[in-house]
Formats: sequence, structure tokens, C-alpha cells
Amino acid sequence: MAEPLLRIRNLKIRIQNGGETGYPVNDISYDLCENETLGIVGESGSGKSMHVLAMLGLLPRGLAVESGEIVFAGRDLLKMNAQELRNVRGKEIGIVFQDPMTSLNPVLTVGRQISEVLVRHKRLDWRSARARARELLELVGIPDAERRMRAFPFQFSGGMRQRVMIAIALACEPRLLIADEATTALDVTIQAQVIDLIRSLKERFGMSVLWITHDIGVVAGFAETVQVMYAGQIMERGPVRSVFYNPASAYTWSLLKSLPRPDQVAGEPLYQIPGQPPNPFRLAKGDPFAERNPFATPRCFEERPALRPVGDVQGHEVAAWYDLKTRIRETGGAA
Ligand SMILES: Nc1ncnc2c1ncn2[C@@H]1O[C@H](COP(=O)(O)OP(=O)(O)O)[C@@H](O)[C@H]1O
Ligand SMILES: [Mg+2]
Repeated sequence: MAEPLLRIRNLKIRIQNGGETGYPVNDISYDLCENETLGIVGESGSGKSMHVLAMLGLLPRGLAVESGEIVFAGRDLLKMNAQELRNVRGKEIGIVFQDPMTSLNPVLTVGRQISEVLVRHKRLDWRSARARARELLELVGIPDAERRMRAFPFQFSGGMRQRVMIAIALACEPRLLIADEATTALDVTIQAQVIDLIRSLKERFGMSVLWITHDIGVVAGFAETVQVMYAGQIMERGPVRSVFYNPASAYTWSLLKSLPRPDQVAGEPLYQIPGQPPNPFRLAKGDPFAERNPFATPRCFEERPALRPVGDVQGHEVAAWYDLKTRIRETGGAA
């Protein structure tokens, strides 16, 4: 089998706060293949962003990689120095974060900011860089690109700013695009447009996409594979359809159940996952979701389950001691 583009093994991230130690990312392993779109979902605080920041050498103070490997295109990113990482970032890995206002420079024109990436990473002269920047703005669907080149970030709407970020992320034709809550701040219509845009650009550039969101609904129509994270662990993963139609983790089941549905009766409250989100400083010794899981069994509180195959669907795996369908039947469904 071909080597995956990204191979993460046993990644563990430690956070130090006074005398306390926590693990926001607690031993995760996964592969991302060439041309694959992998969605990572989970509530806020599940470690999605931290594992990406570790990959890019951008962990905030107080957080550090304790152990593991992050191999991108055959090289361990965790062994690279700052200069090598800077070259990978923006050139081989393009990144789009949630808030373009904080990633864009407010005092430079948008044209200048895109051109700069091309001058730095692609060694273009300013004139060619500018021409290419204009093409990129057109590519991401910004009308009147020539004029918009001279505008400043605050003169763009949220959706248009996110398109500018995508243009910057794609400027060097990266092999991997990471979108971390890239559409979370946008309204639903604009969100759908941005997703469509990334989907078509993916076809065009032939890149891999790591799509991170707290919204399991966003991943449904877009990713091929989905991975559900909770408390810094991977609870379930597999082909999107299989995970959505046949969830095996009570956590995935809860996320799906809390989605608004077309057949929702007006005024009927949405399912809310009981209890508190996980705290990396107070990790349970067993299944991290056990205390919020209406289907938990005694063993869930005792031992941490490893990923195991689900049925006979290739690549569908769950970290759970129980069989979800059996537990739903035994308990008569969730309260
Ligand atoms: N800047 C930070 N400093 C210290 N701890 C942080 C910081 N950001 C996040 N954390 C911790 O890391 C955990 C995981 O956060 P994060 O990866 O941002 O979650 P997600 O992206 O899934 O919402 C959080 O619950 C929090 O405890
Ligand atoms: Mg995040």
C-alpha cells in the first residue's frame, strides 16, 4: 500500500498549568491519504485544534508534544526546526482558520498579502506574484478581482474574507489543506458556498483535505471519511455513510441526535448531551464519555477501550466496550 500523505502515531500533547498536568490530545493515531477528505468532528475542547497546531509547530505556551510522530510526506514534522516548519507551512500545507480577521494583516491590502506568499515561497517576482494573486481571487469567486486587490481586509464581508484566506492557503498549491472551523463564523448559505468552493478546488488541485469542525452536519455531505474526537481521543471513525447511518459510539450517536432534523416537530427541544464537556486535567481512567453516556456499562468506567472494527465495513472502527444497538434496546433508548 502507498505511504499515506499524513501519518500520525500515538500523538500525546501535554498541558502544564501550575502544578497540574493535563492531556488535551491523549494518544491519537490516524492516516490521511493523497486526495482524501477527512472530517474531524467533536465538541469544543476535544483536542481538534491542538493536534493541528502541534503539526504546524504552533502550540500555545504551556502546551507541548509529549510523545508521538507526525509524518508528512515522509518527514516527521516534530523533528523539524523552525525554519523547515515555516517552509512546510503555507507551502506544502495550507491552513484556513475560523477567524480570518486575526490571520490577515489589517494594514496591508489583500493583493499584497497574497502576493507576499508567492514571493516568499514560490520565489516569484512581485509583478508575476501580483498577476497570480489576481487569478487566485478570481478562482475563489471574488468578483471584480482587480479592484479588490487594492482593498483592505475590513472592506470585505466575513464570507469574502474567508475566500481570501482560502486563496492564500492555496497560493502555493499545497498537498494538504487544513480547514479548522473554516466556515463556523459564516451563515448557512455562505457556509455552503465555501464548502462547495473547497470541494471544487480539491478536484482541481488534487490535494488532501483535513476538515475540522464541531458541527457533524457539515462533514456529512463533504468528507469521505470521518473521525469523531472526544477528550483528546478518537472515539469512532470510518466511511462517512457508515458512521452516520450506523454509529457505534454513544458519543457519535449523541452528536447526531443533537442535530436539528427536517422532520423535527416545531418547538420540540433538541437533544442535549447531559453533563459537562471533558476537562483535560480530570481525565477518566476508563472511556472518557462514560459519565455522560446513558448506555454505559460498568466496564466503561474501569478501562479505556481501544479502537476495534465495527461489523464488516472496511475502516469503520469504534472505541467502546458496548454494542450500541444492544444497549439502546436494553435501556429503551436515551431519556
Ligand atoms: N491557549 C490554550 N492554553 C491552554 N490550554 C488550552 C488552550 N487552548 C486550548 N486549551 C486546552 O486544550 C483543550 C483542547 O482544546 P482544542 O484543541 O482547542 O479543542 P477543539 O479544537 O476540539 O475545540 C481545551 O479543552 C483546553 O483545555
Ligand atoms: Mg478548535
